Amino acid sequence: MVIGAGAAGSMAAIFAARGDAETLLLERTPDGGRKILISGGGRCNILPSRADESRFVTDSSRNTLRKMLRSWSLAEQITFFERDAGLALSEETESGKLFPASSLAREVRDRLFALARLGGVEFLTDTLVTDLSARAKGWSVERASGPPLEADAVVVATGGLSIPKSGSDGSGLEILRRLGHVIHPTYPALTPLTAAASPLSHLAGISLPVTVIARDGNRGAGASGGFLFTHRGYSGPAILDVSHVAVRSLKGASPARLSVQWTSRTQGDWTAALRPEGARTVAGALRPALPERLAAAIAEAAGVDPARPLSRLLREERIRLVQHLTCGDLPWSGHEGYARAEVTGGGVSLAEVDPRTMESRRCPGLFLCGEALDAFGPIGGYNFQWAWATGRAAGKGSAERCAAP
Ligand code: FDA
Repeated sequence: MVIGAGAAGSMAAIFAARGDAETLLLERTPDGGRKILISGGGRCNILPSRADESRFVTDSSRNTLRKMLRSWSLAEQITFFERDAGLALSEETESGKLFPASSLAREVRDRLFALARLGGVEFLTDTLVTDLSARAKGWSVERASGPPLEADAVVVATGGLSIPKSGSDGSGLEILRRLGHVIHPTYPALTPLTAAASPLSHLAGISLPVTVIARDGNRGAGASGGFLFTHRGYSGPAILDVSHVAVRSLKGASPARLSVQWTSRTQGDWTAALRPEGARTVAGALRPALPERLAAAIAEAAGVDPARPLSRLLREERIRLVQHLTCGDLPWSGHEGYARAEVTGGGVSLAEVDPRTMESRRCPGLFLCGEALDAFGPIGGYNFQWAWATGRAAGKGSAERCAAP
């Protein structure tokens, strides 16, 4: 039995059925797979084109994380989607993201569900699982309505806490906690940041590629990619990818410092571009590299008049301006939380699970996968990579257990 018809759960069900287990997939919503539907802006960034284990975040053992990811290589996953699910994939070369060639997330969900049904998986939707209890052999699965169901093995694929309206509200994590699993504190990750009373709020709508670094006393992260000024603060892949450091710092001694390199130019490049020569103004020198209103805001933050000719720029002013252009402070005050977070950080410690079968070390016959576990990756298809790999391993592991004498 599999609980949760999301990315990890549908993959677990497909592979449990392939392992000859009679498979029932329980899902609380009327349909399931809702996060797949909204992923990648409705296009579903199904996988990255290149694997990069180093960009995953966990408080558990990185070695265990690697073993789990490597259980199903990226190349094998791509083959599965193209051959078994019949989904042609196409790469967005500038971002290295893989999407279905149709650009339709619905097609990804529907193909996975169809593959599951074809393999004999039975779906039971509108079924909220409220508890699990061990039996002499197997598990009893309590539901919000209807009598409990019995199963030889159970895969828990209930996700984390992000976007509760998609169906994943942390109820699965609570069940796992009650069963005694160690759960690392959860937090919203890949979430937009807010900036109350920011001097940059008038820039809402401006987007550009940048490099952002977030650092507090304990953690640090850097990311290059799209950046968007929103009405409430900042978003875009570069911000989302470092947001976990900012979010977690709010529980620590002091908030993380965010700094931005606004263009690909280095300190040396900018020092050369702002040489005290000719009649060009500061604004004129910044214009080719930056949107005009942002250039003006950076100059203002550096205390430099954009109309000032470069020839009259003081040395200290030039140093300050270069500093703001290449590692300027980004004021922020909070984050958009689970309501907008693409994933949940933290979750069941990876040490609680056998990385080969994804079986709980605490509860034999219980298998865990997906976002409920303590790991997430950056924007770019890495979180589905995690869900597909751990879901498949849990499905296979549960089928092995069902087949065991
Ligand atoms: P997921 O949350 O998908 O599924 C859990 C399922 O369990 C849900 O169907 C839920 O209803 C069900 N459930 C929960 N509790 C239950 C209970 N008690 N009883 C019964 N059912 C229960 N990643 C990526 O790689 N590429 C991308 O393009 C995107 N884009 C993206 C956009 C947005 C807006 C979001 C929010 C997220 C993404 N992601 C993404 C992240 C990706 O969607 C996420 O990592 C996976 O969906 C996680 O898969 P899971 O199956 O673990 O959880």
